[in-house]
Amino acid sequence: MPAELSCFEERCRARFPITEVIYNCPRCGGLLEAVYPPLEEKPETLRDLWRRRRMSNLPLDQSGVWRYREMIAFLDTFDHVVTLREGNTPLLPAPRAAAYGGLDHLVFKHQGFNPTGSFKDNGMTCGAAQAVRLGVRRVACVSTGNTSASMAAYASAAGLQPIIFIPHGNISYGKLAQALEYGAKTLQVEANFDQILALVRVLAERLGIYLLNSINPFRIEGQKTIMVELMDQRDWNSPDWIVLPGGNLGNTSAFGKALREMHALGLIAKMPRLAVIQAEGAAPFYNLLQRRDRTHLRAVHHPETLATAIKIGDPVSWPKALHEVVSSGGAVEKVSEQEIADAKAVIGLCGIGCEPASAATLAGIRKLTAAGVIPTGADVVAVLTGNVLKDPDYIYRYHTGALEAPGGHRLASHFGNNPIVVPNDPDQITRLLEAVN
Ligand code: F0G
Repeated sequence: MPAELSCFEERCRARFPITEVIYNCPRCGGLLEAVYPPLEEKPETLRDLWRRRRMSNLPLDQSGVWRYREMIAFLDTFDHVVTLREGNTPLLPAPRAAAYGGLDHLVFKHQGFNPTGSFKDNGMTCGAAQAVRLGVRRVACVSTGNTSASMAAYASAAGLQPIIFIPHGNISYGKLAQALEYGAKTLQVEANFDQILALVRVLAERLGIYLLNSINPFRIEGQKTIMVELMDQRDWNSPDWIVLPGGNLGNTSAFGKALREMHALGLIAKMPRLAVIQAEGAAPFYNLLQRRDRTHLRAVHHPETLATAIKIGDPVSWPKALHEVVSSGGAVEKVSEQEIADAKAVIGLCGIGCEPASAATLAGIRKLTAAGVIPTGADVVAVLTGNVLKDPDYIYRYHTGALEAPGGHRLASHFGNNPIVVPNDPDQITRLLEAVN
């Protein structure tokens, strides 16, 4: 029995060949996921194999995604895989952030160490491999910036033509610059992310372009390996909580699927809880969890946040994410612009740094510990999704007291660090430095 695509809807579960170019179930419209025959290897065998591959010089083994290829067995050959050595991201203990978040200990898994600076690379190596396998020439995505940066790199590396649709004026220059540098045809559309996703789906169908948004089930498979690598790094000991930001909710879906699969295989003994954090102005998933009737997600029509990566009002993967959060006994929290900005500066003060959306994790942890949802002594891993250099404009404004929330409200720079202009004069500089000592 080969790998297949399966409808995620409980009442449907229709199966389709793994090579069918579909993004939703043709029968019921549900989300799709890749499913595999059960693995025959014992957990110890897999753990040993994966650990040994860390010593290997083979590109496939050096990838923090393909090293775990038994967990993502959708290809029939690895000949067309393009790897930029994605994954391999560190676990970084951060005592100062832990204290700020109300925890005894906190560890960040920093996906910003990826080749294009975000967790999207974990998924994109898989999406690009599937595109090559299908023999397509052009690939497309709508993006708040990181998906497009990643897709541009992987598509170009694979010899495909990347076509990118981004909300005009609403992505950071760091991310836009990457798309241009990696050679993507870049279209800035005067609409928001949710509107452009609908547009791109029409265009993909009409022009026969392969879609590499997180609705693409193979991207989700790659993002699963973030959790597999995490457990490998922790010698297969599950934390109590895994905290991540939520936008389109692809990552939440991927993490939940990975954890369930690892648990079923006997690789981990305990299922961690998932905590998803959204920005207050773009929190449709948080709103959904507040309601008793969770059969429909009510979109936020004008999402607003300076954390542009998660400025999404109508997340496509919500049915999967809902399942994963509820079945893990998890939580969803929302945080304000001020809370995100301050948490981000605290992560910076740990010598770690991240982009705004990633900092929603620490802001959320602070609220969840204060509410007693996460106990102080809990073993918590927060996933930092993007690199600090993705959005330098935000950083400069925060530290110079010029950061304005949507609507024009000036944010306080509680951890501000204003650069000082000095004359070329050793005496004056000496006086200044002695005064701040
Ligand atoms: N953090 C960062 C840095 C992101 O770029 C994104 C999503 C998220 C968190 C949210 O992840 O969508 O899986 O819930 N960025 C997408 C993009 C939407 O187009 O780059 P999610």
